[in-house]
Amino acid sequence: MKKWFAFVPAAVTATVLLSLPLCATAGAGVTGTAEAGAAKSAVCAACHGATGNSVNPEWPNLAGQHRQYIALQLAAFKAAVRLNPVMMGQAAALSEQDMADLAVHFSKLTPNGQEADPTLVARGQQLYRAGDTPRALPACMGCHGPEGRGNGPARYPALRAQHSVYVYNQLKAYAGGTRYGAPAAEAAVQVPAGAAIMNEIAAKLSDEDMQALASYVQGLR
Ligand code: HEC
Ligand code: HEC
Repeated sequence: MKKWFAFVPAAVTATVLLSLPLCATAGAGVTGTAEAGAAKSAVCAACHGATGNSVNPEWPNLAGQHRQYIALQLAAFKAAVRLNPVMMGQAAALSEQDMADLAVHFSKLTPNGQEADPTLVARGQQLYRAGDTPRALPACMGCHGPEGRGNGPARYPALRAQHSVYVYNQLKAYAGGTRYGAPAAEAAVQVPAGAAIMNEIAAKLSDEDMQALASYVQGLR
C-alpha cells in the first residue's frame, strides 16, 4: 500500500478516508434482527458474555461493536481467512442470516469494560489523537473516532472499552501479518480491505506504543 498518509495532516487524512468506500462485499447488507440474534447467541455468551462483555481479556467484547464489522469478521472466520482456531470453529456452522442476526444483537448491547492504566494514558492519548508525523503514523482517532466509536459503514471497528489484552494481541497480529491468511484470488471471501491499513500502521508501532494504545482505548467510552 502506498504511504499516502505520509504527506497529509491527520485531519485531512481522516476526511479522505471516511469518504473512501472500503470493502463493499462481505457483510454489506446486514439485515438481521436483534431478537433472532439474541436467541442464537447462547453459545457465544459462554465466551463473549451474556451482555457482550467478556470476562477473559483475550476474548473481545462484542457489545456496541458495529454490525457491519461483526458480520464481516464472522464471514472471514468461517472462510478461514481470519486465522483463529476457536472462532473458525464457532463460525463454521453459521449461515449468513445467523451472522446478520448475531451482529445486530451484539451491536445493540452496551460495552462496559475497564479503565486505562494511568501510567500509560499520556503516551496512549498522544499517539491516538495526534499520531506521530516523523514516523508517518496517522492518528488512530482519524478512523476510530475521538471516543473510539469507529464507523459502521466504513467498517472501522469501535475500540472503546475493548480489553487491552485483546487490542494488544491484534496490533501484534497485524504487525506480524498473522491476523489473516492469504486466500486464493478466486476465493469468495477475501481479506477485508481495511486490513492492509492496519498492517502498515501496526508495523510502525513499538511494543511500548502498542501497550499504551491498548490501555488507552480500554478506557475510552
Ligand atoms: C470458546 C470461546 C468463544 C466462543 C464460544 C465464541 N467466541 Fe468469538 N472470539 C473468541 C476469541 C478468542 C476471539 C478472538 C480471536 C482472535 O484473536 O482473532 C473471538 C473473536 C470474535 C469476533 C471478532 C471481534 C473483533 O473485534 O474483531 C467476533 C465478531 C466473534 N468472536 C463473534 C462470536 C460469535 C457471534 C459467537 C457465537 C456464534 C462466538 N464469537 C463464540 C472466542 C469465542
Ligand atoms: C486509515 C484508517 C485507520 C487508522 C488511521 C487506524 N485504523 Fe485501526 N482499523 C482500521 C480498519 C479499517 C480496521 C479493520 C481492519 C480489519 O478488517 O481487519 C481497523 C482495525 C483495528 C483494530 C482491530 C479491532 C478489533 O476489534 O479486532 C485495532 C486494535 C486497531 N484498528 C487499532 C488502531 C490503532 C491503535 C490505530 C492508531 C495507531 C489505528 N487503529 C489507526 C482503520 C484504521
